[in-house]
Amino acid sequence: MQTEPLVMSLPDPSRSSAALLDDAARRAQLYLATVRRRPVAPSAAAIGRLTELGGRLPDRPASAHDIVRLLDEIGSPATMASAGGRYFGLVIGGALPVTVAASWLAAAWDQNAAMRMSSPVAAALEDVALAWIAELLDVPASAGGALVTGASMASFTALAAARSALLARAGWDVGARGMFGAPPLRVVVGEEVHVTVLKALTLLGFGRDTVERVPVDRQGRMRDDAVPPLDGRTILCIQAGNVNTGAFDPAAAICRKAAEAGAWVHVDGAFGLWAACSPSRAHLTAGFEQADSWATDAHKWLNTPYDCGIALVRDPAHLRAAMAATAAYLAAGEGREANHHGPELSRRARAVEVWAALRFLGRAGVAEMVERTCRHAATLSGRLREAGFEILNEVVVNQILVAGVTDAATDRLIAAVQQDGTCWCGGTSWQGRRAMRVSISSWATTEEDIELSFRAIVAAGRATAALAGAAKMAAGS
Ligand SMILES: Cc1ncc(COP(=O)(O)O)c(C=O)c1O
Repeated sequence: MQTEPLVMSLPDPSRSSAALLDDAARRAQLYLATVRRRPVAPSAAAIGRLTELGGRLPDRPASAHDIVRLLDEIGSPATMASAGGRYFGLVIGGALPVTVAASWLAAAWDQNAAMRMSSPVAAALEDVALAWIAELLDVPASAGGALVTGASMASFTALAAARSALLARAGWDVGARGMFGAPPLRVVVGEEVHVTVLKALTLLGFGRDTVERVPVDRQGRMRDDAVPPLDGRTILCIQAGNVNTGAFDPAAAICRKAAEAGAWVHVDGAFGLWAACSPSRAHLTAGFEQADSWATDAHKWLNTPYDCGIALVRDPAHLRAAMAATAAYLAAGEGREANHHGPELSRRARAVEVWAALRFLGRAGVAEMVERTCRHAATLSGRLREAGFEILNEVVVNQILVAGVTDAATDRLIAAVQQDGTCWCGGTSWQGRRAMRVSISSWATTEEDIELSFRAIVAAGRATAALAGAAKMAAGS
């Protein structure tokens, strides 16, 4: 006879938290509804108030409502308004509303996505999300994958697989014997390699100074005619999307050479690999599909909440060889187990948001989002050039490098744009010149945001004498 489970008659403790969650949701909605109307960077006063969140560790518990109120009243004004449409620093997407909602639900689920046993739903969503991502990015469906914190950790994960595979080929089990005394491996990167790839390499025991650097062209693309002779003990790191210019290494020619030599090719495609989804930009990613491993992000161009990166490895056995960790209490289920494919055991169920973004947008929606942000970058760079600024890069995707008449003027321009608060752009140096970086990666950026930002940048250029000549100025005169 089937009886009702005992738990059915228990009182419902969640009743007391319902009002709290409602309050948090109401505050979050208000935040998102007003984020476009405030200066992008927080005021000095708002930052100053953050000290109120510190002080002595309280002796006694506080009211949960007060905690949420404090976070909102003091924390919200001190945020960078990257959820609005005019934050152009680093390479930062704005979380799609469906992913924010999915993330709230996932927080309530509080799943440990370590393995199927600890969360069947997280494991199932991860299987689906990884398969969909591989399909979108032109990576073989049979590839192994891991969802990690970001592209930094994705490169670490994929390069650990590369290290393990190449050393195994040389008869050395790096998992068992470590790196001391191992047969030497070579690592080749472009001069414009992203710092996080170098960091991943150093964490894996490859000294930064031992890495061979290949010269690049004016856009930061690795020169394929300058790639040194490769061999079967070489890891070659190439790039889809330079963090400054957005440029893509000539992957087809490089991968051909690498394949002939038996070298392992790793792709840092933190944002650029997503260009594969866009009909007008897909040609830039030609050849990257021939690599052995890939690192990318969902929190950049896919516009999921932080944090979410993706490592993909052509032969899943190599990923598993580098990452598998078994113990008697970690019972394995049927199918892929996350803890055997990534560096962590316990972790959050970030697949929920990736799945939600992909299921919501579909292939066409991802393509449109990438196309739209690239179109915004083309419009803004074209108008800034007409207005008298120098654009230092070929704007092939969503990255723009803007220069004033001198380096000092460019730095004044960046400070003035940040101070004005209409939009936010950071600074960088590009091949000996100072530049203001504009990265348009958010779904939330509209044509109106581009227009407002254009006017603000021109006004700042005029105020700081960063513009070449007043006669060329097109905005707001
Ligand atoms: C080309 C490239 N690689 C790697 C990274 C690091 O990504 P994450 O911050 O997600 O670790 C970035 C970040 O902007 C990037 O643009």
